[in-house]
Amino acid sequence: MLIGDAFLRQVGSHARDHLKCKTCAIVSDSNVARLFADRVKQSLTAAGFRPILITIPAGERSKTLNQAGAICDRMIAAGLDRQSFVVGLGGGMISDISGFVAAIYHRGIPHVQIPTTLLAMVDSSVGGKTGVDTRAGKNLIGAFHQPALVIDDLDVLKTLPRRQFNQGFAEIIKHAVIADAKMFRTLESWDASSSLASGARALQRLIKRNIQIKSRIVAKDERDRTGLRALLNFGHTVGHAVERAGNYRRFLHGEAVSLGIVAACAISVKKAGLPASQCAAIVDLLERFELPTRLPPKFPRTRILDAVKFDKKFESGKIRFVVTPRIGIACVAKDVTLDDVREAVAHL
Ligand SMILES: NC(=O)c1ccc[n+]([C@@H]2O[C@H](COP(=O)([O-])OP(=O)(O)OC[C@H]3O[C@@H](n4cnc5c(N)ncnc54)[C@H](O)[C@@H]3O)[C@@H](O)[C@H]2O)c1
Ligand SMILES: [Zn+2]
Repeated sequence: MLIGDAFLRQVGSHARDHLKCKTCAIVSDSNVARLFADRVKQSLTAAGFRPILITIPAGERSKTLNQAGAICDRMIAAGLDRQSFVVGLGGGMISDISGFVAAIYHRGIPHVQIPTTLLAMVDSSVGGKTGVDTRAGKNLIGAFHQPALVIDDLDVLKTLPRRQFNQGFAEIIKHAVIADAKMFRTLESWDASSSLASGARALQRLIKRNIQIKSRIVAKDERDRTGLRALLNFGHTVGHAVERAGNYRRFLHGEAVSLGIVAACAISVKKAGLPASQCAAIVDLLERFELPTRLPPKFPRTRILDAVKFDKKFESGKIRFVVTPRIGIACVAKDVTLDDVREAVAHL
């Protein structure tokens, strides 16, 4: 994991330190490729690699099995083999699909990640979960495949639209709530309107801390089996349902997670003893980063409940739900009912 600025021109030399292979595919989306692909390609070429660039349309709708197959076909046609590697240059959508391609191509070749959104830097590039969406739902097909190298270049965030930048803070605030009360206080005094340039060092420290939090949790439960990794799903039961109810268009992932965090906090007050003042502080913090904490008045709330039911198994009316008893810690509650979720959603 490398983090800094002006790194894109050094991708080739860093890759050479880690990888013996010669050929590689840079997988990117149409927005990101236009901005950064030349730099990455030149850097890899200068370091003695033979890269091909594969660009897919920007947006979640590209994260499909068909698209993954098409990328593999391009790689086969270009003669890439078991000795090749995949570079994912983009946000979380590209992290997931390029990682999935790396996981299945010749039964697995190395994956280099160059995340270009804040969300991808603090979340999707860490932990080795890769995958694609299907008509029935998100991330239903995938594989665990840890990246060989992750290169975070903060310079790339300068072109990221503000709304996209802010949604990354939903996951950052989630990490603070479940694991780091000190980081929560740092965020409370963060200048949320600051330009990237003025706060680059602080942002770099913040990103590093978030990677550390997620990596530590993942390291203890890499395959999502013991329930520890599930803590990272704080805010996501309702968050995913909001995303689905909005047809994946109404809200960005981080925005839906922000609403999910508000619901999870209300449930935590009721079921885990979270002080109401701390619940209010979490909601305030989300609002400072211009993240939604209330649903639009006419939003179809029943569809959120339907999506929760679709997503989760209710065992004798109860659901495994991540709660926070106080800022900085989280646990899985086994006594949260659909009525609790309904009540929390009704108040959103
Ligand atoms: N694997 C995991 O652990 C994990 C975790 C969280 C999210 N995810 C996945 O991540 C995806 C969401 O990620 P995302 O929000 O980064 O979405 P995204 O990759 O679709 O990027 C959002 C938009 O920003 C554009 N963009 C990216 N970088 C840019 C830059 N530097 N400058 C200008 N524009 C830029 C993209 O073209 C796109 O239009 C979802 O598919 C989600 O399932 C995966
Ligand atoms: Zn998330």
